[in-house]
Parts: sequence; C-alpha cells; structure tokens
Amino acid sequence: MNIENLERLIRGRRSVRQWKRDEVPDELLKKAVELATWAPNGGNYQGWRFIIVKKKEMVEKMASAVQAVADKIASWPEAMSWKEDVKRYQNNASFFRNASACIGVFASEYQSPMDKVLVARESFDREAKEILGFRRSAPTAIQSAAAAVTTMLLVFHGMGLGAVWLVSPIQAKKEIEAILKVPSNMNLICLVAVGYPDESVRRDRKPVEQVLEFVY
Ligand SMILES: Cc1cc2nc3c(=O)[nH]c(=O)nc-3n(C[C@H](O)[C@H](O)[C@H](O)COP(=O)(O)O)c2cc1C
Repeated sequence: MNIENLERLIRGRRSVRQWKRDEVPDELLKKAVELATWAPNGGNYQGWRFIIVKKKEMVEKMASAVQAVADKIASWPEAMSWKEDVKRYQNNASFFRNASACIGVFASEYQSPMDKVLVARESFDREAKEILGFRRSAPTAIQSAAAAVTTMLLVFHGMGLGAVWLVSPIQAKKEIEAILKVPSNMNLICLVAVGYPDESVRRDRKPVEQVLEFVY
C-alpha cells in the first residue's frame, strides 16, 4: 500500500451510528479482531480480550443496561446544571442496539517490571508512590486496547463497514460484564458497534498547526 492509499483510509474513516440491517459475516469480524491484535501493545503482553456479540437479545440487554444508567444519572438533581448536554448524552446512550454486531473490548491489568518495583515501595517511599501515580495516570493496558481499537476501526472502514468506538457504556460496566460472563480479572474498556453503514458522515479536524509543536 502506498502512502496515498493509507492517507485515504485514515482520512475516510468516520464514526458511523446508523446501520443497515444486513448481517456482517463472522469472517470479516474475526479478521478485523485478528488484525487489531497486531497493534502495538505494552510489553507485547496482549492482555486484551474481545467478545463479538451478534445475538440480538444480548445486544439489547447491554443497550438497556446502559440506557438505564444514563436515565438514572439524568434524573439526579445535579444534572439540571448541564440539562441540554445531559439530555443529548441520554438520548444517544443506547443507539448501538441497532448495530449488526457489538464487540466488547476488555483488558487485564499489565504490570511492567518497573511497576512491580514501585508497588513494592509505595507504602513507605513517597517518591516511588509519586512515580507510580504518573504511570497509573496513563495505564498501559488501556493505551494498548486503544491501539487495537483504532486498528480495528480502520480495518472495518477498509472492509466497507461502519463502526463507532463507545466508551459511555462503561457506565454499565458491572451489568455488561455480567451479561457477557467476563472473568473477574478482565475489565471492560469499550464497545465497538459495527454494521454496514446507513449514513455518510463528514467531520472536520483542527488544522495540524493548532495541535502540533516542533522542538528543535
Ligand atoms: C475514546 C473514545 C470514546 C468514544 N466514546 C463514544 C461514545 O461513548 N459514544 C459515541 O457516540 N461516540 C464515541 N466516540 C466517537 C467519537 O465521538 C468520534 O470519534 C469523534 O466525534 C470524532 O468523529 P470521527 O470518529 O467520525 O472522526 C468515542 C471515541 C473515542 C476515541
């Protein structure tokens, strides 16, 4: 692949939230997950797990659980301070029920050798505790899962599918992990909803000069 094709793939991918009813073949879903596992990841630990849910009732259950938590948050008096924004979030909480498939992305905790040293010292060494805090502010397991999800979204786009990365379902982490019978050492990172796109989306980006700085 030349760089122009790669650029077209990257620039052309958009989050898709409306899908046709057509089923996505298992082989495409499996291929996307397989390629996602080629993403860079901390220590090549590969502590990620993926559950592809095609069973409609199960996606419905997850969506209803997420909607219930969103409704609860929106009903609390504090929500009145951000009424319009909260309403928007509430209205968008469970659209993924219409996706052809929903992929749960999970990660187990990753402890590098440095983490192990720091954890052993944190109770009596303030400096070690501070450094551990820095490391925990950007967890390797989550960054690794994010690399996999990014790769997966690009693959889906390359396959002519439309997908969206969903972190808001984390609000119903307990319920989703129970529905999918996830082992207790695995944590839900996000869902990816996917199907054949039924919308074409345009979205811009800030000019790179606004977000980039060179240091010579
Ligand atoms: C970490 C992360 C979390 C996201 N969570 C949600 C979400 O909960 N619900 C949603 O509709 N979109 C979610 N998105 C999709 C973003 O809204 C989307 O990527 C962004 O608006 C840019 O649009 P684009 O993906 O079409 O370029 C998430 C994206 C990322 C990277």
